[in-house]
Amino acid sequence: MYFVANWKMFGNYKSINTLNKVIKFSKSKAIKKGRLIYCPPYTLISSFFKKFENCLIDLGAQNCHESEDYGSHTGFINSKMIKSTGANYVILGHSENRKKGESDQLINTKIKNAIKAKLKVIFCIGETLIEKKKKKTKAVLSKQIKLGLKKIKISSNIFIAYEPVWSIGTGDIPKSIELEKTVQFIKKKFKGKPPKILYGGSVNTENIKDLKKITILDGFLIGGASQNSKKFIDIVKKTYN
Ligand code: 13P
Repeated sequence: MYFVANWKMFGNYKSINTLNKVIKFSKSKAIKKGRLIYCPPYTLISSFFKKFENCLIDLGAQNCHESEDYGSHTGFINSKMIKSTGANYVILGHSENRKKGESDQLINTKIKNAIKAKLKVIFCIGETLIEKKKKKTKAVLSKQIKLGLKKIKISSNIFIAYEPVWSIGTGDIPKSIELEKTVQFIKKKFKGKPPKILYGGSVNTENIKDLKKITILDGFLIGGASQNSKKFIDIVKKTYN
């Protein structure tokens, strides 16, 4: 199971010390087969990399510029640059960035170039509350998958994170039956072996007890709760107990 910590726009150099607990946990038996991946803001990736030197915790970025090459793009970072920090993952298509205007086509270009740069991609999809109410969830997810992964060969380099937009930061999660059906639906979109599927949206130390019962999931993309090491560790432990 994969446990991805998306710190969003939180954290500063002092946050590095909060990782000691997680490092210790990652070396203990209690982690079982859990794989931890931290996606801090860009400013902290290198410091986290040094901090994780002697453990198996992996790193990712939260977005990247779509260009394969270096260039005059003030304020941006491309996938090659992310790879050079020691990170191996990048989150793409997050709804917080789609909301700011990222199109499916742009996300598709980012995914292609991230894969070329040998990064693994955590590709986020999910419907808004209005789309859910209008019963458009399947249509929305189908479109996001079709356009976002256009001309991309599915391999172990692609993870899909199903994050219903209405669930992010709200404390609401889908009903177990609904979530299971949606994950099945996503898996069936792929002809061969489907990519690994993560769930994201208000995952916490309480609802993990229900979420872990959805055994077709391959892990979780965790926002708020992942910034607290104790809570993050607790989520992993409860997944296995
Ligand atoms: P929360 O866990 O804070 O709801 O965030 C989910 C998310 O957006 C992870 O990418």
